[in-house]
Amino acid sequence: MQSALGPSSIKTYHPQLELETRPFLRRLLAEPEKYTDHIRRYAGGLTLLVVYGHQVKTNEDQFLRLAEECVNLLSNRIASGGGIWPVDIFPSLKYLPTWMPGAGFKRNAIIWKAKMEEFVHRPYEFVKDELRKGTALPSFVSTLLEADHQKEKAAPVNSLADFDIRWTANSMYSASIDTTITALSHFILAMIQHPSVLERAQAELDSVVGTTRLPTFADRPELPYCDAIFTECLRWGAPVPLNLPHRLTEDDIYEGMFIPKGSLVFGNIWAITRDEKLFPDAHAFKPERYMEPAVDDATERRRDPRTYVFGFGRRRCPGANLVESSAWLLMVSMLSTLKFGKAVDDRGNVVEPEVVFDNSVFRTPNVFQCDIRPRSEQALKLVAEI
Ligand code: HEM
Repeated sequence: MQSALGPSSIKTYHPQLELETRPFLRRLLAEPEKYTDHIRRYAGGLTLLVVYGHQVKTNEDQFLRLAEECVNLLSNRIASGGGIWPVDIFPSLKYLPTWMPGAGFKRNAIIWKAKMEEFVHRPYEFVKDELRKGTALPSFVSTLLEADHQKEKAAPVNSLADFDIRWTANSMYSASIDTTITALSHFILAMIQHPSVLERAQAELDSVVGTTRLPTFADRPELPYCDAIFTECLRWGAPVPLNLPHRLTEDDIYEGMFIPKGSLVFGNIWAITRDEKLFPDAHAFKPERYMEPAVDDATERRRDPRTYVFGFGRRRCPGANLVESSAWLLMVSMLSTLKFGKAVDDRGNVVEPEVVFDNSVFRTPNVFQCDIRPRSEQALKLVAEI
């Protein structure tokens, strides 16, 4: 996974990321109150492109719809209520005949399993087909299939790779959506709550990029304050605050505490991002904290949230490099063309954004009211360009 989504592979997607930015901005300006839907659509399209080489052209795209149906099933039906079902606690329930009252979970499971498998197999078969025809776009699956093909030619191996690639590719989709929505929702929230940060970022963009084009990756080295905002969004947002659970494969001793093999451990990412020694006034959104170099290299590494917000060790998020490019570009493109402010109600009263978190895994703020509009006529024209 890490090799197919490493920094050099991600560079090959840069032109496509730049192409996808305008349609995102147009959708956002058309219906700003649906900002999470637009981020979901953007992240979904991007993941299908990077993982399967499939280009989403319309909202009716077959794979996009199938993917959204499955993510919805997964979060709102299968994993809702903590994802624990009575049959997980009393395994003998699995022997209930499907027709019996109380066995509705079995009838649902049959339908949901078929849908999830469709989402695992159809886009995967699409890539194999494209490879056979010689028209496959480079992607996570095509790269791994080709590498596997070379290995098989050298020494025929079992077909485990096929199974692994299919299911790993599928896991990318669900893993990419909520995390990206969380990071970018925090960005929008921060811009609404901190007009002076917004102003400083826009002044930087105007002086480096100007107002007649959108920012590109080539501008990044000259946008240190925008980079600091991006870094602070990752820290302040802490999208997966308790990481995902890891299981110990052997007994361990950590700071004098014995942790037996098989234990589940949670890396408390939230606590690290709120460490007052590393981040004075840690609950505040302050991109300036990254504008001065740290006292030494070790502190520099520790205060970079990328060291921990993407998890740890071999299970570290394989999408980290993609996010580093995609979320950054989306963020600076929004800064360059949009005004962010608090919503105003019918009576002219300012509405404070209501910040509520109610997801047990991701720190996604529920949709809050805000005012998003073009920065200027020129910005509107820029976004409208095809
Ligand atoms: C801001 C955005 C993102 C954040 C903060 C984030 C964070 C994380 C974290 C904390 C984990 C758990 C790592 C661990 O167990 O130690 C994870 C796993 C994972 N992420 Fe991300 N992620 C993001 C975006 C993405 C994207 C865009 C993709 C795919 C293109 C992705 C794919 C995955 C996958 C497949 C895993 C499971 C890896 C495994 O268990 O081996 N993530 N992510």
